[in-house]
Formats: sequence, structure tokens, C-alpha cells
Amino acid sequence: MGFNLLANWKLNGSQAFYQRWFAEFNQHYEGSSYIGLGIAPPSVFLSAIAEYPSNPGIAVGSQNIDRFSSGARTGEISSSMVQDAGGLFSIIGHSERRANFGESDADISAKLDLAAQYSLEPILCIGESEEERAKNKTESILKHQVVQALEGCSVLNTLTIAYEPVWAIGRGSTPEPQEINSIHEMIKDVVQSRFSSIDLRAVLYGGSVSAKNSESIFKEKEIDGALVGGASLQGEDFASVANIFNDLKRL
Ligand code: PGA
Repeated sequence: MGFNLLANWKLNGSQAFYQRWFAEFNQHYEGSSYIGLGIAPPSVFLSAIAEYPSNPGIAVGSQNIDRFSSGARTGEISSSMVQDAGGLFSIIGHSERRANFGESDADISAKLDLAAQYSLEPILCIGESEEERAKNKTESILKHQVVQALEGCSVLNTLTIAYEPVWAIGRGSTPEPQEINSIHEMIKDVVQSRFSSIDLRAVLYGGSVSAKNSESIFKEKEIDGALVGGASLQGEDFASVANIFNDLKRL
């Protein structure tokens, strides 16, 4: 199963929050299929959301997993636990984890393999910083991140990538849609040419996606969907983005 639109709730939410979220989403979503839609809530809510009666069938996944499967790792959650709680995917290597929690390329490779081992679709996040972009290093940085993450993997066989320019996250600004499109094309080329045994299911864009800009973004051929942060916190906004996606690409 592939994912097209993922809600990344980050460190936000509560029981009351997700109850209200589903009421709003269900009221505004116009599609009939939920395949391709996912929510990455804070992990304490994962199984409750997977089983919540008003969840119409949206997949759940984690925002992170540990690089080990068990042991003396206070505070961490494993890939098998996410699977056991009903999770179907995990975001891996989000720029906030790389920057705030010191995640290395080796950590990310280990996590990708562990996700694969427990049948979680790994959503590998990559993206350049503002400074790297200013120095015209976007392409080389993204290639480096992809190669470093995938070279260390031995189990991984399917993958979704989220291209998330760090400077666009939570800022209200995005690259031009055509620019995102050509970056996605480049990412697909790198994976297909260097890691031909890996089935790259989709390349999503993330960074300030909203109901306002998603039409211009989803019109681009190589943009297979989005990882949505801020605009995923209201069920109505996420439903609007999903409705626009459905109109242009069909879930
Ligand atoms: P944003 O976050 O949509 O709020 O920019 C995206 C993300 O960090 O995944």
C-alpha cells in the first residue's frame, strides 16, 4: 500500500483533539476512499486512533521509531510496537529529528531496515537547509542524504520519500511547484539508478502545504502527494487538501 497524504501532528494533540479532528474531517471530506491517507499522531494515541470508531479508515503510523528493536532505551518506541499498535508506516529522519535529536545517517539506515522488517512503510524525509539552498547545493545535499540512508540498508525493499526543504517547514513559503517537480524527478532517478531493488512507491512534498497552495503543487506530475504539518492539525483543512488531491490525482 502506498501513501499520498500524511498528516504529521508533531507534538500536538489530545483525546479531545482527535475526537474533534475526526468530526471535522468526516464532515468535509468528499472522497469515498481512504487509501493513501495517513495520520502520524504522537505515539501514545496511535492505537486509540487506529481503533477509534469515527476513524473512517485512515491509516496511522509513527513520527519516529528507535534504531534498535528492544533493550535499555528509556523513552523510545520500536518498529514492532508501532506495528503491534496498528501502525502501517513510520516517518523516518524528519529534519526536526535530525536537528533536535542528533539523528545520523547511520541511525536513519538502521531505522529504515527495522521499519521494513516489521512491515511498516518507511517515509524517509530529506531536505536542504536555507544556507545549502543559497549556496546552490540542494541537489548534492539531497543525493547525499538519499545515498547515505539507503546504502546502509539490507532489508529495505519498499520506500516512500518525503522531500521537505527545511527552510519551507512551518514558514508559509514553498519552492515553486515546477522546482519541486524537477527535484522529485531527480530523487526518483537517483533511487532507480543506484538502488534498483528498492520499490520507490511515491515521492511526497512537505513544507507549508495548505489548502491554498496544494492545487498548484498537486498539478505537477512527479509530486505524488504531501506530508502536511500545520495544515493537518484541523480536520477541515486536511480534508480540503485531500479533496484537492482527489480532484487532481484520485486517491
Ligand atoms: P508544515 O510541516 O506543513 O507545518 O510546514 C511539514 C513537516 O514538517 O512535515
